[in-house]
Amino acid sequence: MPDAVAPPADGRRSDTLPDAPAGPPPGADAPMLELAGLHKRFGPEREVLAGIDMRLHAGERVALLGESGVGKSTLLNLIAGLERPDSGEIRLAGQPVHALSEDAAAVLRAREIGFVFQAFHLLAHLRLWQNVAIPLLLAGVPAAEARPRAEAMLARVGLGDRSLSMPRELSGGEQQRVALARALVHGPRLILADEPTGNLDPRTGGAALALIDEQVRAHGAALLMVTHSLQAAAIAERRLRLTPAGLETET
Ligand SMILES: Nc1ncnc2c1ncn2[C@@H]1O[C@H](COP(=O)(O)OP(=O)(O)O)[C@@H](O)[C@H]1O
Ligand SMILES: [Mg+2]
Repeated sequence: MPDAVAPPADGRRSDTLPDAPAGPPPGADAPMLELAGLHKRFGPEREVLAGIDMRLHAGERVALLGESGVGKSTLLNLIAGLERPDSGEIRLAGQPVHALSEDAAAVLRAREIGFVFQAFHLLAHLRLWQNVAIPLLLAGVPAAEARPRAEAMLARVGLGDRSLSMPRELSGGEQQRVALARALVHGPRLILADEPTGNLDPRTGGAALALIDEQVRAHGAALLMVTHSLQAAAIAERRLRLTPAGLETET
């Protein structure tokens, strides 16, 4: 990102985001994310998550492995406050995600989380730069500042010349890179990535991983990345496997 549009290294949050909701300040070594006893079922028959415990600290990169259908995307949705657990606790930057109203969860998500969705979820009627600018606009960044920042992040994923394109004009891999740019543009402290290189060739995937890794370092962010790719799992210092029995550490 060029200096002209880079946010200040500190004071970024106070410059661009509304005041943090009142809450106990997390201790210096408190985890960025803490999951305790998470349960989620879909209907009476389908228990997907049966007691998930996890801690993720700032600067930590974790790969989440597991068979298709085991509940990886569901777990990310719960963490982001997009779905509710049946029981258990989710604390993100000291905030109880499981107990927040939908509006409060949306504010927390906009403030703290960058989410690379498996299905991209780009808004079809918005140009690429507008899609990427959404997290900035939600955080109260003026449009005049949001656009150059969004365009700079598009350039970082190799789509600097496609700023005015519409999502339907892009290949799946290109849409995935836009989704990555949107997830990272506001410098989130927690990056949730659902198979972020699933549609990318090894070279483009490597560039995407390098960008994720760089953002983790630059912002002291925590990364939880669902992946089946060894290349992607290699940037993580911890690998967890989700099974019907729970989360296991993979060696
Ligand atoms: N909204 C939903 N309603 C009913 N079942 C769901 C819903 N979301 C996910 N599931 C089911 O939960 C299970 C886990 O899904 P998912 O989290 O997408 O798995 P993964 O990402 O590991 O492939 C699957 O059996 C899926 O069909
Ligand atoms: Mg999934």
